[in-house]
This record gives sequence, structure tokens and C-alpha cells, in this order.
Amino acid sequence: MTKSINLKNSDLPSGYKSHLSEMKGKDRSWHFDPSLKDKSAIKLKDIIICKELQDFLLEYCETIPVEIGTSAREGDLKNYKTNTLIGNKLDHVFHGYTEHNSQMSYERLSRENSNPLLKDVIDQTKLKNASIGLIKVSPGHVIPWHYDSYVFYKKTNNVEEENNVERHIVFPFPWHWGHIYQIGNNVISNWKKGESYTWPVFRYHLAVNAGVKDFYLLAITGLRNDS
Ligand SMILES: [Fe+2]
Repeated sequence: MTKSINLKNSDLPSGYKSHLSEMKGKDRSWHFDPSLKDKSAIKLKDIIICKELQDFLLEYCETIPVEIGTSAREGDLKNYKTNTLIGNKLDHVFHGYTEHNSQMSYERLSRENSNPLLKDVIDQTKLKNASIGLIKVSPGHVIPWHYDSYVFYKKTNNVEEENNVERHIVFPFPWHWGHIYQIGNNVISNWKKGESYTWPVFRYHLAVNAGVKDFYLLAITGLRNDS
């Protein structure tokens, strides 16, 4: 097992140009202009969230591993040009994030390893072969501007292409101060419990907790129903 290192600016490959700047040149599906209006956030049908699920999340998320947005396995670093997950992490370092502001508790569970409360959420999304991510962001931490590479999903489901893979984000608690989600140029806040959104593949997004309570998210990943 290679060890994880907390990346600093000095760990960036020499002459590093951001992955974001590469994507600006490559991804024709978005304009990459913060001054333009866009429709990146696609609102979905609300997910029904019961009190038992909320209680489960409050307790269970205390026990799940903490991931650091600016840390990577040593061996992965040299693959940054082909591994877009590493490209996104290097960008966090390049843009000034550190282990002190980019932590989240994150656990990914396949449907078969999910309890009935989580299975019910997965099933409500109607995504095929879906898995679920439980995420907790504590006050002062952010999930910086990135796009999803669906690494866990593609590996566990033997899917090579991301084009039919879709992620639905669900807010299992009502909005609270300082909890902000952004997809493309759409800033989302003031949500009700169970609100759910998705976005086009490769679309950049982020999450912020500048508030006073932990921020919980559910991320359900699967294949689109029509695929
Ligand atoms: Fe993401």
C-alpha cells in the first residue's frame, strides 16, 4: 500500500498548469464563464427522507473515514495527466487549499452493502446499478471546485465510460446557515429536506460549510434509466 501524502505547493509538478485550464480548452459542453447565466443544476424530484435515516446519518457519519481534498497516494502523483481525480486534487493545491480546509467524512457503499434506509433512497432515484456516498462536511471545510471522475463507481461496476453515469446529490436535512452547494454557475442554498439535483457529466461543482452545523450530503451514482 502506498502512503498518502498531504500535498503542498512545492509538490506540484514543475511547470504545472491547472487541470481546470486544460478543461476550459477541452470540454465543449460548458462555457466556463462565471459571468454567464447557465442551467448546470438540474432539479430532480424530491427524495423522501425519514427521521430514522436522519438519525442514522448523524450517528454513522461520526465513524466513517475522513478524506482530505489535498492528499493523494504517492504513486498516483506521476499519473496526474491521465488520472483526472489526481488532476482535480492538484488543482486544489494549486488554488491554495490545504488539509486544514478541505476535509470531509466520506463513505461509498454499494447497494448490497447499504442498509434498508439507504437502499430506499437509492431506489427512489431510479438509477440503475447505483451506489451511495455518505458525506459530512464540518464547519470551516469545503469540497473545492472540481468535477467527478466516478472512480469508485466505474471500478465496482466495470463501467469504462462516464457518459451514461449520473450522480444525484440529495440534501437529507433542511438547509442551515453557511451550507452552500454550487453547480456550474448555479448557487444552491435554502433547500428543503430531500431536495435533489444532478448536472451534466464533467460539470464543475463545490460544497461549502461556513456555518455552525455539520453539512450532510448523499451522493447516489448509477446509470441513467435510458442507458
Ligand atoms: Fe463531486
